[in-house]
Amino acid sequence: MTSEALLQNDPAPLVACTISRDVQNFDLLIEDMETELGEAWGDLSFEDARQFFRQPESGGLKFVAIALDQEDESLLAMIADLIKSAKVQGIKVILIADEVSPMALHQLLQLGAEDFIPYPLPEQALHEAIERLNAPRKVPAVDFIDTASPAPSKHGGANGIVLPVHSIAGGTGATTIAVNLAWELATIEKKGPQPRVLLIDLNLQFGSVSTYLDLPRREAVYELLSSTESMDDDVFKGALMNFNDKLSVLTAPTEVLPLDFIEPVDVERLLDKARAHFDYVIVDMPTTLVAWTETVLNAAEFYFAPIELDLRSAQNILRLRNALRAEELPFEKMRFLLNRAPKGMDLSAKARIKRMAENLEIAIEVQFPDGGRPVREACDQGMPLGLEATKNPLRKEIQKLAASLHARQTEQLEAAQ
Ligand SMILES: Nc1ncnc2c1ncn2[C@@H]1O[C@H](COP(=O)(O)OP(=O)(O)O)[C@@H](O)[C@H]1O
Ligand SMILES: [Mg+2]
Repeated sequence: MTSEALLQNDPAPLVACTISRDVQNFDLLIEDMETELGEAWGDLSFEDARQFFRQPESGGLKFVAIALDQEDESLLAMIADLIKSAKVQGIKVILIADEVSPMALHQLLQLGAEDFIPYPLPEQALHEAIERLNAPRKVPAVDFIDTASPAPSKHGGANGIVLPVHSIAGGTGATTIAVNLAWELATIEKKGPQPRVLLIDLNLQFGSVSTYLDLPRREAVYELLSSTESMDDDVFKGALMNFNDKLSVLTAPTEVLPLDFIEPVDVERLLDKARAHFDYVIVDMPTTLVAWTETVLNAAEFYFAPIELDLRSAQNILRLRNALRAEELPFEKMRFLLNRAPKGMDLSAKARIKRMAENLEIAIEVQFPDGGRPVREACDQGMPLGLEATKNPLRKEIQKLAASLHARQTEQLEAAQ
């Protein structure tokens, strides 16, 4: 494939192209591109690339490999512009650097190039870099919050809402729902800035958010939880992880901690900080009721409780209601989500759901279907359904819940202005 053909929008779908002064100087790159992509790539000179990025169609490319050597260091400003244009079009950038100075390289990476490989290319290096491009990006969240989330956002910023998810019978899907609701909210806008979403795992002992998103647990989480009185913005942000540039996550700590390791006042401080920096704060709660459950309930906009259509859930709802009423806590914030709900056609199941709701004097408005094996697989692979199983029926229902929450929130913020 030649650059002319590329500029004429040849219908053959191009996945990538190289950009260099003369690609013949990088013959190992040509070989590796062929191995990885067959014919589905093109090569562009720097000037061609500039033209090319002016066309809207260039957004169809997945990545460009910009190859440069010492001689090109005089062209750094132009190469920087190319990287910026690529980023604007949502195209990822791999730098191939042949004896380029660390300073120059640093500068280019700062502009948002995803990766760099030294030239001559080590065995498999291009292959691995391409694989890394496909994997979700997981980085400590500090930069992400500062750069990607100018405050206050149009969603109101400094006064986010808290949405806990609490599985009162254990295993009813709280973590799955928390993770996927957080992801759907973080990607809800079709265009324009996304709301800022933080997912907090308060299962101090066996939190599985980090597993479901395949994020490492950070030592900084323990430090944050053990001394919330001295938590400033930097300490707070320093404990967060970021999933795929879109979702911030406070995972459970690395070690198993007793649930009373933190006290109500710690949780209050943590939620205050979270609400100051995020539009939506999703909290994955432990099944056990603890001293600070009340704190979270009081801070919550809604308190989601996934249940199943069984006696265990029914009995626990009763106990919970009695406990909350005894303490005069706001039971009305509870929103029961029937997980693994029987399919709509099943009339006897419908009758059972109705009876359960009536007996317990609760409304069961939201029902999530069983999403089958793909749900467990997505959890195991550390991916939200929105990335891994977009058409899954569970995903669609969680997406609807996210959309209605967001619509409600947007409306309220607009009304308040
Ligand atoms: N609606 C559903 N369809 C299919 N699998 C589900 C569904 N909800 C939860 N699961 C699976 O059930 C298991 C337990 O869910 P999890 O979210 O960890 O529960 P909890 O946090 O309440 O203990 C996970 O393997 C999850 O993938
Ligand atoms: Mg859980």
